[in-house]
Amino acid sequence: MDYGIKGKVALVTGAAGGIGSATARLFAKAGVQVALFDRDADGAQRVAQHIADEGGQTISGGFDVRDYDAFAAAIEKTQAAFGGVDFIVNVAGGGSRQTLATMTPEDWHAIVDLNLTGPFHSIKAGASALRARGGGAIVTVASLAGLRMSMNNGVSYTSSKAGVLGLTRHAAFELAPDNIRVNAVLPGPVLTPQMKAKISQETLERVPREVPLGRWVQPEEVAAPILFFCSPMSSACTGTHVIIDCGLHVGATSSREEYNRTRDLPGLSAPK
Ligand SMILES: NC(=O)c1ccc[n+]([C@@H]2O[C@H](COP(=O)([O-])OP(=O)(O)OC[C@H]3O[C@@H](n4cnc5c(N)ncnc54)[C@H](O)[C@@H]3O)[C@@H](O)[C@H]2O)c1
Repeated sequence: MDYGIKGKVALVTGAAGGIGSATARLFAKAGVQVALFDRDADGAQRVAQHIADEGGQTISGGFDVRDYDAFAAAIEKTQAAFGGVDFIVNVAGGGSRQTLATMTPEDWHAIVDLNLTGPFHSIKAGASALRARGGGAIVTVASLAGLRMSMNNGVSYTSSKAGVLGLTRHAAFELAPDNIRVNAVLPGPVLTPQMKAKISQETLERVPREVPLGRWVQPEEVAAPILFFCSPMSSACTGTHVIIDCGLHVGATSSREEYNRTRDLPGLSAPK
């Protein structure tokens, strides 16, 4: 299908993960050259190879979005490989379950640096590359938690994802004269392979009962609105967002009892 972005270049962060890899695959199918970056360099390389085997054009690399210089180097590497950058998609992110009571300042910074400072680095390091192409698009992956609170993650996750929406609005305003559009996607519960591997059978079955459409979101269903925000189909959209949650936000059933039951579970902690 022709989305009007064939021949363009996209840099995707978190490209080894569930939503990032689905996004990279969809962009490649639309004829976009894709630079896949992730802290997991081997994982990004595997996804890039898979796309290349199917005829896509890719490069890949390892970097930490919290490191500004590394982000700037990734932009340069993409420019060197493909002649420029048109789209930056900020997928890398993560959470922790600590509450206000249990979170240390170090844990707070780890999540905020990942989820909010990472996308800031992308805009700071990447805007001039998009400007050099006469414009482009930046998409940030926030979360439904950015609009309400996260029942499964902690205060740092909710706060950082709300911050991403502020960053998106500000960048949209400041970069509009350069024809650079900045928008956000807000997923609800997405059943990535990584998610499926770490949740219990009880959670797997409970989430569909709480969601109006009666099922989990699939990673490809997040990739599609990301592509929309990069394509001419969204040419009048900037500083806005779309919620992709199978309707969770209209019929939220999570309660304080649920929060008390799930908080501070082992297995999800701030990245070091
Ligand atoms: N899965 C969901 O239900 C869901 C819901 C709402 C929002 N989100 C958001 O979507 C995004 C992707 O989620 P996912 O489910 O695909 O997660 P995932 O864990 O499958 O993928 C995240 C990727 O980011 C990479 N990463 C982590 N820290 C990094 C760093 N410092 N620098 C570079 N790369 C780093 C990881 O290696 C991983 O490949 C995240 O921002 C997440 O907060 C996910």
